[in-house]
Amino acid sequence: MIYLDNAATSWPKPESVYRAMDEFLRTSGGNPGRGGHSMAVAASRMVEDVRLAMARFINAPDKDRVIFTFNCTDSLNLGLKGLLRPGDHVITSSLEHNSVVRPLRKLEQQGVRVAWLSPHPEHGFVAPEDIEKAITSQTRLIVITHASNVNGVIQPIEAYGRLARRHNLLFMVDAAQTAGRYVLDIEKQNIDLLACSGHKGLLGPPGVGVLYIGERVDLDTLREGGTGSHSELEEQPVELPNKFECGTANTVGIVGLGAGLEFICREGTDKILAHEQELAARLLEGLARIKGVTVYGAKQPADQAPIVSLTIGSSGPGEVGTILDQAFDIKVRTGLHCAPAAHKTMGTFPRGTVRLSPGYFNTSAEIDVTLQAIEKIARMGDLEKHPAGIQTKKA
Ligand SMILES: Cc1ncc(COP(=O)(O)O)c(C=O)c1O
Repeated sequence: MIYLDNAATSWPKPESVYRAMDEFLRTSGGNPGRGGHSMAVAASRMVEDVRLAMARFINAPDKDRVIFTFNCTDSLNLGLKGLLRPGDHVITSSLEHNSVVRPLRKLEQQGVRVAWLSPHPEHGFVAPEDIEKAITSQTRLIVITHASNVNGVIQPIEAYGRLARRHNLLFMVDAAQTAGRYVLDIEKQNIDLLACSGHKGLLGPPGVGVLYIGERVDLDTLREGGTGSHSELEEQPVELPNKFECGTANTVGIVGLGAGLEFICREGTDKILAHEQELAARLLEGLARIKGVTVYGAKQPADQAPIVSLTIGSSGPGEVGTILDQAFDIKVRTGLHCAPAAHKTMGTFPRGTVRLSPGYFNTSAEIDVTLQAIEKIARMGDLEKHPAGIQTKKA
């Protein structure tokens, strides 16, 4: 089996992640902040250790501004809906995932105005000059994905961050596809709100995400409830992180994320990115030699996260994905990847693409086997005309 769907969620996880979660549930699985007994205290300590590790990882000055959420979507919803009010103007791109697009569409219905900027046709990312031109007196926030989950194009967040600071705007980054492999530095990149998935490049389990809330940001809550602190109050506590972490946390997920972070720090993000980019470059080089394959991505592989989107002739991406899965045991994602706006921008709407996203545990040999499979599929021509052309395992 070859797993090439790490942009959806990373798999496998490092052994240390499985072990840490198993051990936590067996030995320290109390409810953090809810009681003074040793298991609750041990759970609190472990959660706070991971919060500190995450803060260090993104060079955040204050660990209490690292909020644990349930995924990147949760982080983005909290950041956007907790901040924006009717009359506010927001600048974003037409490459965004639905977890940015849908909250913004909802906010538009409530009177928030949004500028949706297209990437520059030359280099594939939104030009900082275009962002500057879109700023109005009502602009409050620039929110942008660091890397597109459809074609992998990296956007220049340092330039956007400098621009936001110069114009006294807030800057939010969706780092779902980059956290764990690219440098994220709250201070140097002038990031006010950083949203991450815990289960993709950070190598934790599903059900955990992170939102960093900078000091210039005053967010309202989207949820209120028990925090284990100030139990005498009927109002939500105001101090961070408790203000935004109510209800029992996904402690075992947070501990798994901590083990993922430890693994990444031990290996080094440079080494992780270099390996993944080598695999993506091998894939791109091989695909360029296969007749009938169209690849959608950056001009240079180095400007692209390890995410490769393609189509094969007029064959439907779904059919290609089914054959890859059932005849070759290769797991990829097909369709619109929850980002219809990006596909409209790239010209691949409504069918979408076949997306291959190598991770740190993939090998060159797996990429070569995948290329051979794609070549066989491409040789078949239009799959709709030959639905039974390659025998699937189930057939
Ligand atoms: C760019 C981008 N943003 C946000 C998300 C949402 O992440 P999550 O699944 O952790 O909510 C994804 C998920 O694929 C993504 O690719």
